[in-house]
Amino acid sequence: MTTTESRSISLDTITAPVADDLAAFRKYFRAELRSDNLLLDTALRYVLRRKGKQIRPLLVLLSAAASGGVSHRSYIGAALVELLHTATLLHDDVVDEAEARRGLPSLNAVWNNKTAVLVGDYLLAHGLRISNENGEYRFLAITSLAVQRMSKGELLQTKKTRKLDINEEEYYRIISDKTASLIASCCEIGAVSATEDEAIRRAFGEFGEQLGLAFQIRDDLFDYVGSSNAIGKPIGNDIKERKLTLPLIYALRSAPRSESRQILRMIRKGMRDDSGPVDEVISFVAAHGGIEYASRRAEEHRTKAVEAIATVPPSPARDALHDLASFVISRAT
Ligand code: IPE
Ligand code: IPE
Ligand code: MG
Ligand code: MG
Repeated sequence: MTTTESRSISLDTITAPVADDLAAFRKYFRAELRSDNLLLDTALRYVLRRKGKQIRPLLVLLSAAASGGVSHRSYIGAALVELLHTATLLHDDVVDEAEARRGLPSLNAVWNNKTAVLVGDYLLAHGLRISNENGEYRFLAITSLAVQRMSKGELLQTKKTRKLDINEEEYYRIISDKTASLIASCCEIGAVSATEDEAIRRAFGEFGEQLGLAFQIRDDLFDYVGSSNAIGKPIGNDIKERKLTLPLIYALRSAPRSESRQILRMIRKGMRDDSGPVDEVISFVAAHGGIEYASRRAEEHRTKAVEAIATVPPSPARDALHDLASFVISRAT
């Protein structure tokens, strides 16, 4: 799809500079997620059965390694962001009424919405508590802002889903708030754990913002080009949720008005249990260049991300971050 796709980069290669740190983080993370409350412990174990890509803790560790070195502080930061991320996924699947996550039925589908919301709250609070108990107030300042932005982004998305009138600028505001804010926090927290240099910290924040935009655009592309087996969540789901993402926004803008109107009418009517109309929207997007356009925009953000850390001294960790930026826009999961 993009020129970088031919250069396949695996997450294993990218993690190499911090492989030991990542292993230590995983141990720490698992140990943190035990509870003597049986119901909670069962739910936590279920959530932990599939660990996800752990890109956010990886970003904390690589950003730390590239800006001075990984320390225990970096592990705390990594645990904080992965806890917040896991919490937001539990909440997101409730909001989106999603039935699958990481290749398994989602917690809301197996138990119910109430349990998923409460377990999400527990995880969120746990992350804040770890940071607080370790005196990591700067981490708390960074992440509390990000969590607020995530909620704001989700709220705007909900409104836009109701009205179906989203433009590209609003789309960008949504993905910046709901996704890039946390990814930017990961990179900034990694730098904060390793250097006092504010310019370097800002550079990593900007790297994360651009990476986050690229990441979400790629994620949104999955709805049009993915296979639900590989990504572990249903394909065509955004369309069914009436969520208009970049490929569709572009196609609606480029196609003849009558055609766009007809597609919008179909989406508005709803298409939950019928794959026919979903396929039609997917073909419409492909026919009007939506996939190429979104891929191009993702590539632009990859370039900007790499530029953002150009002043950071070269290191294996910085190279790995460059590779991660390429991975993010070409990833198959
Ligand atoms: C999914 O994030 C949520 C988005 C911001 C699109 P990831 O794709 O990083 O999820 P996991 O942790 O690997 O499952
Ligand atoms: C991801 O949002 C969750 C957050 C960023 C809070 P989406 O709803 O777009 O992502 P998936 O596809 O369910 O992972
Ligand atoms: Mg979702
Ligand atoms: Mg969502």
